[in-house]
Amino acid sequence: MSSLARKHVLVGVTGGIAAYKSAELVRRLVDQEAIVRVVMTRAAREFITPLTLQAVSGHPVRDALLDSQAEAGMGHIELARWADHVIIAPATADFIARLAAGLANDLLTTLCLATEAPLSVAPAMNRVMWDHPATRANIDILSRRNVHILGPDSGLQACGETGEGRMIAPTDIVSCLNETPSTGVLQGVRVVITAGPTWEPLDPVRALTNHSSGKMGYAVASAAIEAGADVILVSGPSFELPPPGATIHSVKTANEMLAKVESQIASANIFIGVAAVSDYRPVEASRKKLKKGQETIRLDLVRNPDILASVAARADGPFTVGFAAETEATLNNAREKLLAKGLDLIVANSVTSDNNPFGSDHNHLLLIDAKSDLDLGRDTKSALAQKLIIEIARHYRAKHSTQDT
Ligand code: CTP
Repeated sequence: MSSLARKHVLVGVTGGIAAYKSAELVRRLVDQEAIVRVVMTRAAREFITPLTLQAVSGHPVRDALLDSQAEAGMGHIELARWADHVIIAPATADFIARLAAGLANDLLTTLCLATEAPLSVAPAMNRVMWDHPATRANIDILSRRNVHILGPDSGLQACGETGEGRMIAPTDIVSCLNETPSTGVLQGVRVVITAGPTWEPLDPVRALTNHSSGKMGYAVASAAIEAGADVILVSGPSFELPPPGATIHSVKTANEMLAKVESQIASANIFIGVAAVSDYRPVEASRKKLKKGQETIRLDLVRNPDILASVAARADGPFTVGFAAETEATLNNAREKLLAKGLDLIVANSVTSDNNPFGSDHNHLLLIDAKSDLDLGRDTKSALAQKLIIEIARHYRAKHSTQDT
């Protein structure tokens, strides 16, 4: 049974050309046995009639705050309390700005302020409007308030331009709203994930390593399994419990991790490099324990192979996603890595005093492709992993559908 069954979903429709897709969204939600009520802005009525949305939802559609007849049935505060989820699709630039400013100047903005239900928005607008610093700043404000930003997609727009700003497909919105929203989005897809640190031995009792706990990589593996993927987890040393359902390969060094990844990668559709791989290893690991002697000693290190870059460089390589841990210029440094390593996506985490993901159950992630970035917000690693898997699945399918046409 869908996790949306018997859930109260309030669908907000604002005035954009994508409003015609709202009818399909409502239908898909009803198919999931959700109980749906629709609220439109005045401008939305120019694009789709209330009657259409009433017919698909099975309930009268509301658009006015001060409609005494409608308020007598279910007042706006009652409606705000009634909702288990609120989804605004499409969300125009104007609506996003009003939401970010906390305005309550019509029924829909008032409901968004008055509800305690999770709020999602599916932006839809011209690509220049989406790229405008004002819109980016508003989206940033909403992400920080834990509003889920679903999409947008890129492609041919109603205005004739091509770029980012199209509303994501109603089916993708429904997947995002499911309590385990990622259910099925990677059905039948084989995913290889690296996680944890690597250990580079100095001698039989010492090693060079880092603070990675494996929590983020294991959370990504769990979310991919929930999404229906066949998951192979190649893990450096970690105290985390292996996610049930994953095929796990334990390794220690970067070279062992590379060899294991190479043995698994030919049949993989997606590779996600979450591991904090040591960039260098001792030129030679002593076979005997090194004894102390001089006051200072030198350690000669040699570069390790870059596992992620070597997967991305394969001729028939999988869809490739990297992680980047940065202490400064997070967005720029991460995008440079994306381009230098030839990745499809990179996930940046800033390592700062406000967000130190190492060993923590929380993180703050930014998903970056060659042209755009999406702030996934600060959350638990498992919630972020779910959001990430939905986005990865969406980008993976978009790439395949373009390749197929
Ligand atoms: N990575 C890898 N093999 C390496 C080093 C990194 O597969 N030898 C992968 C990581 O799993 C991660 C991404 O590359 O997905 C970026 O790792 P990061 O440590 O942030 O960057 P580096 O490429 O190592 O660059 P630098 O340390 O200079 O920031």
